Amino acid sequence: MATTAIKEQDFSRLPEMPEEVFTAPLRRPEHLGEDWLEPKQTDYTSQDDAIWDDLFSRQMEVLPGRAASAFMAGLDKLDLGKGGVPDFAAMSADLGKLTGWSVVPVPMLIPDHVFFWHLANRRFPAGNFIRTRETFDYIQEPDVFHDVFGHVPMLTDPTFADYMQEYGKAGWKAMRYNRLKALGALYWYTVEFGLIEEADGIKAYGAGILSGPTEVVYATQAKSPNRIMLNVDRVMRTDYVISDLQPTYFVIESFEDLYRQTVERDFDRLYRNLPPAFTYANSAVIDVDNVLNRGTQEYLLRGGRGSGAAPV
Ligand SMILES: [Fe+2]
Repeated sequence: MATTAIKEQDFSRLPEMPEEVFTAPLRRPEHLGEDWLEPKQTDYTSQDDAIWDDLFSRQMEVLPGRAASAFMAGLDKLDLGKGGVPDFAAMSADLGKLTGWSVVPVPMLIPDHVFFWHLANRRFPAGNFIRTRETFDYIQEPDVFHDVFGHVPMLTDPTFADYMQEYGKAGWKAMRYNRLKALGALYWYTVEFGLIEEADGIKAYGAGILSGPTEVVYATQAKSPNRIMLNVDRVMRTDYVISDLQPTYFVIESFEDLYRQTVERDFDRLYRNLPPAFTYANSAVIDVDNVLNRGTQEYLLRGGRGSGAAPV
């Protein structure tokens, strides 16, 4: 393992990954180049567009008052509710004027180093396909509704947009230290499941929360989960749940705070000191935590997803 500081400066081309760095064994479809970008967005059918519209209206019943104001403003700025799956080129033109980001179509999953490379260049890779009526309520792989509705509105916020780029730039280093899980936990607890303290209460800005109907209410209002102020070092040592509601959410004061905590972090030092596995369980409260609410964990203690337990 590297013992000296690793400096990554050239983000114009894909990195060479040494053989000992683990990269997910994804097989690149033949029609895609090294950047893994689809040549064009899928042609959606009228049924696909209707699924987008129904998902959109379902979210609009629960988001006002629970979603971060930056997210609600982003939905408006990009007019994502105008009907049907948004056209990536038109959306990117609008987004580009606001923060210099674009949205690019990719197949379901792309390799980590390619994902980081796109983020480092202010390109957000979004899944091309949309879920079906059969998987309307829950899908494991992120589809275009999760990726665009959940993630893209936050990219209209200049500070959050800068944070996402810095995150991308931090990725290759984590891979070289073999600490991708730790950096992944940071993404999970901010970009996917982050909460923010606003003047009138706790709101959600994470895409994993905002693109589904249940977790928005649970994350912001339920008694079960812990809500703890974000500490990047602690979060990168914390395990998380992939296919159920989170036992713990981390809360930021502002996007400036999130940006600062991340760019000022000496990741080389952190990775050298981090054990390969997570130190803290996903429901743990530890003595350094600044705890806003200590959760009852009732939902998980009753069995969580599939048990019939209410997300209270
Ligand atoms: Fe996501």
